[in-house]
Amino acid sequence: MKIKLKAGKKYSICSCGLSQTLPFCDNAHREFNSANNTEYKSLKITPDSDTIIEVTSNRWKSFEGK
Ligand code: FES
Repeated sequence: MKIKLKAGKKYSICSCGLSQTLPFCDNAHREFNSANNTEYKSLKITPDSDTIIEVTSNRWKSFEGK
């Protein structure tokens, strides 16, 4: 999926697929990591200029077909 990012704003992209606000992290990974001994973390991005990026993850099941 493509997302617009604003210059200087910090974004956290979900890598675990459990966020209710995909593609952005809502910290759902913390509880999952504690329960499952995993180490999911969000990908932090702070762009220098307004930009559009394309992101994808095989963990984002809820986005399939969108
Ligand atoms: S909720 Fe998925 S990485 Fe934070």
